[in-house]
Amino acid sequence: MIEAASQPSPRRILLGVTGGIAAYKAAELVRRLRERGAEVQVVMTAAATRFVTPLTFQAVSGRPVRTDLWDDAAEAAMGHIELARWAELVLVAPASADFLARLATGRADDLLATTCLATVAPVWLAPAMNRSMWANAATQANVATLGDRGVRLLGPASGEQACGETGEGRMLEAEEICAAVYATELQRPLAGVRLVITAGPTREPLDPVRFISNRSSGKMGFAVAAAARDAGAVVTLISGPVALPTPPGVRRVDVETAAQMYQEVHAAMAGADVYIGAAAVADYRPTCCASNKIKKTSDRLDLSLERAPDILASVAALDRRPFTVGFAAETTDVERNARDKLARKRLDLIAANEVGSDRAFDREDNALLLLWPDGRRELSLQSKADLAREFIAVLAERYHETRRARPKLAPVAS
Ligand code: PMT
Repeated sequence: MIEAASQPSPRRILLGVTGGIAAYKAAELVRRLRERGAEVQVVMTAAATRFVTPLTFQAVSGRPVRTDLWDDAAEAAMGHIELARWAELVLVAPASADFLARLATGRADDLLATTCLATVAPVWLAPAMNRSMWANAATQANVATLGDRGVRLLGPASGEQACGETGEGRMLEAEEICAAVYATELQRPLAGVRLVITAGPTREPLDPVRFISNRSSGKMGFAVAAAARDAGAVVTLISGPVALPTPPGVRRVDVETAAQMYQEVHAAMAGADVYIGAAAVADYRPTCCASNKIKKTSDRLDLSLERAPDILASVAALDRRPFTVGFAAETTDVERNARDKLARKRLDLIAANEVGSDRAFDREDNALLLLWPDGRRELSLQSKADLAREFIAVLAERYHETRRARPKLAPVAS
């Protein structure tokens, strides 16, 4: 877990090294990152080992270098899934044209590519290749695809190349890459924070074709997930049925019912630092779901409903609970009702919105009143994307403040 964002802090960086003459610069990069307090685990492709030996990287990183997806001993100790989970940032430098192509097409044909597929951490690439290879339409298409998926590119720079040509394609210098990593961290108040958020409605089935639901479109929760990602958080978005694309770089889990959402939220709680309940979860659900379509046999049909699990309250009640944030959808007495929910559910922060047929639900804009035990902040009516950014800025302040005051509240990610 990254500590307060205003200071350079240790972080777990998985450095991927692919085949190219710039691989020698990666050894200097390891040194620079470690000087800033990072733990660096190097993973090399087979081609990279032709340029620099794993021993060099082992010496500068202080850790055994991983090269092989099929290394039995290493897989037993720290397999590719463990590597993917361990990393707070995956940085590939140099990233060859071949590696960009493999990543763009989702290949899992070596340890580095597999780890990139398996991680929810941000993936950054520092490309290095001949200028014609960089300019080639295939490479540019791969770069565009990766950019759309939230992969960030550092460089390449322009200048003299190892092949004697001059042009764009040189890898950035180690210090430039290192500065980019830490400069961004300063602007990202949730860097490395593991955040779980729910969004959208739930559907509670009455029979195989009917359900009880609500008007939530998921727009608010999805906007908050994207803003949290931009603030550096590692985001898991647990969504009810909505018609929205997944924000790039966010891990999404789809559910239908409150019970499924409860299960997925708790499955995501290990190591979570922040939980935000933005979903409009059913308060009540049918006591049973008819196995066949309910027939129109009488003039009147009474439904029997029971309480659905309260996901937010159950998260707040965990022994090692994350920083817990609720939403409150109110039609009257917004502040009083929201303050009551904040206290009753033992939340760290609540975002209250006035809802109605023409407010908040399924709208492009919204306004929020943020409340915490000894404070409040009003966020004015604006697009949900802008509102989400302001919300996340306040949340980050409150999160760091609470962690300083009550360090035991939020678990440290394992
Ligand atoms: O999705 P949009 O169309 O963009 O609309 C956004 C929104 C209005 C749905 C959103 O801004 C919002 O207010 N979400 C919470 C809606 C809600 O269920 O509010 P509530 O006051 O009923 O619930 C309070 C809190 O308890 C919420 O954090 C909710 O996620 C949580 N809850 C509620 C019931 C339940 N069974 N489990 C829960 O965890």
